[in-house]
Amino acid sequence: MDPIRSELTWEPAQLGPDAVRTIRRTSDLRGLFVDAASLEELVRAGDPVVYETYEPSIPEGPGHLRYGLTVLYPGHVGREYFMTRGHFHLRRETAEVYVPLRGRGVLVLQDELGRCRVEDLHPGVVVYVPPGWAHRSVNTGSEPLVFFYVYPADAGHDYETVARSGFRVRVLAQDGHPQVVPVEGP
Ligand code: F6R
Ligand code: ZN
Repeated sequence: MDPIRSELTWEPAQLGPDAVRTIRRTSDLRGLFVDAASLEELVRAGDPVVYETYEPSIPEGPGHLRYGLTVLYPGHVGREYFMTRGHFHLRRETAEVYVPLRGRGVLVLQDELGRCRVEDLHPGVVVYVPPGWAHRSVNTGSEPLVFFYVYPADAGHDYETVARSGFRVRVLAQDGHPQVVPVEGP
């Protein structure tokens, strides 16, 4: 294949010109947030976009790297900050690199033993997601959280494990500040 060149724009934050844009609205994220009633209110009030990703069409085969841009908008569902669905990679031996470009947030990581880590995301840091760690980004700021990411193209995405077992922490607003709160349960 030929080399690919992408262009980053800032206002609005986008990756172009040939990236595939995927949009996730509140109605796509039922079951994700703890406050289901507040989510339905948002759906009725116009179903805002929670996040979008832009990814060039790079083959999902071995040897390739896929990369993209996530734009995670500021907002809350009840007290819970807007966040991505979160996933393990299907091939657990694959890692990922996150490079925040704008905004503030956290990356919640959890391994299959249930160990949790929370890493700050803001311009000036790079976060390495090691193999075997599920990851979910959370916008704790008041502007879009924009980050670039790159991962092995054959990684695959496993959303089911996270949907079934969940993350052990949630990130909630407390007096206007983010608080990492353990999830009750077995
Ligand atoms: C790719 C990756 C991120 C997310 C994106 C949306 O492996 O980790 O680019 O895909 O931030 O989040 P999800 O995929 O969890 O909806
Ligand atoms: Zn990933």
